[in-house]
Amino acid sequence: MIVLVSGKSAPGATTTVAALAHGWPAPLVLADCDPHGGDLATGWLSTWWLGGWLGLGVGVLSFVTATRHTTTVTADQLTGHLQAVPPAPHARLLAGLADPGQASAVGEAGWRRVAAGLSALAAVPRGGVDVLADCGRLSDGAEVPWPVLEAADLVLLAVRPVPRHIHAAQPALTALRQRIPGERLGLAVCGTSALGVRQLQGLFGVPARVSLPEDAEAARVFSDGAAHRKIARTLFGRVAARSAQRLRATTTTARSAPSTLAAVNGTPR
Ligand SMILES: Nc1ncnc2c1ncn2[C@@H]1O[C@H](COP(=O)(O)OP(=O)(O)OP(=O)(O)O)[C@@H](O)[C@H]1O
Ligand SMILES: [Mg+2]
Repeated sequence: MIVLVSGKSAPGATTTVAALAHGWPAPLVLADCDPHGGDLATGWLSTWWLGGWLGLGVGVLSFVTATRHTTTVTADQLTGHLQAVPPAPHARLLAGLADPGQASAVGEAGWRRVAAGLSALAAVPRGGVDVLADCGRLSDGAEVPWPVLEAADLVLLAVRPVPRHIHAAQPALTALRQRIPGERLGLAVCGTSALGVRQLQGLFGVPARVSLPEDAEAARVFSDGAAHRKIARTLFGRVAARSAQRLRATTTTARSAPSTLAAVNGTPR
């Protein structure tokens, strides 16, 4: 289970999650756990949402409501709240909250059940799936789905190598360091070059596990559902697919040997 979070400056966490999900090399559950409201169904997947293929009524809130009297959550209980992801047939979506007001209905106990359900799905013998979760901004402490972050193998802080984003990421990293062990923390550097990756790793003392190049047109495919028939052939699409493969390989290896987590190095090419 890999989680992405950000500071308050919208560096591209959701875009990066969607791009990684698109290129993910294995069965995947894409969990939209942003307590400020989910953006995946209405962004990257908006064509299918508008076309009626995806509904906002099935996802985090329906699962939390259905399990409100449950003490032990099973993988099967979560499965019924997942939806197909048409542009990525290997993936299923746990759709996010339709509006931020619903976060209070989920609460700490609800996020604990979501974390338990996702962990159970990942641990199904011979049928386990990978989980990629967007947990939104860490800027508002009361709204953070900490149980999901704490259940993750890896928590990546999305940041761009520019002052406004660096400034926004600093308190988020401080909050993460208080609750997540250092070996499970990393950066997802958005809109960057190799120089940006090196700068941020030096500044934060945290390794970059993912870095995606600056490409506004390609990014809009994953943030807003813009049409682009050859997205997989763009630099952005190729780097995202390669990053997804590397991230999966290193995280899977790290489950048995945490010290083997490899940082991203080099320019996104
Ligand atoms: N690598 C990139 N290159 C260029 N533009 C990007 C890149 N990544 C994201 N963007 C753009 O940045 C904007 C914000 O992206 P996104 O919604 O993913 O941010 P976020 O961190 O999830 O924000 P929020 O805190 O609101 O959830 C979008 O317009 C998106 O297209
Ligand atoms: Mg987002």
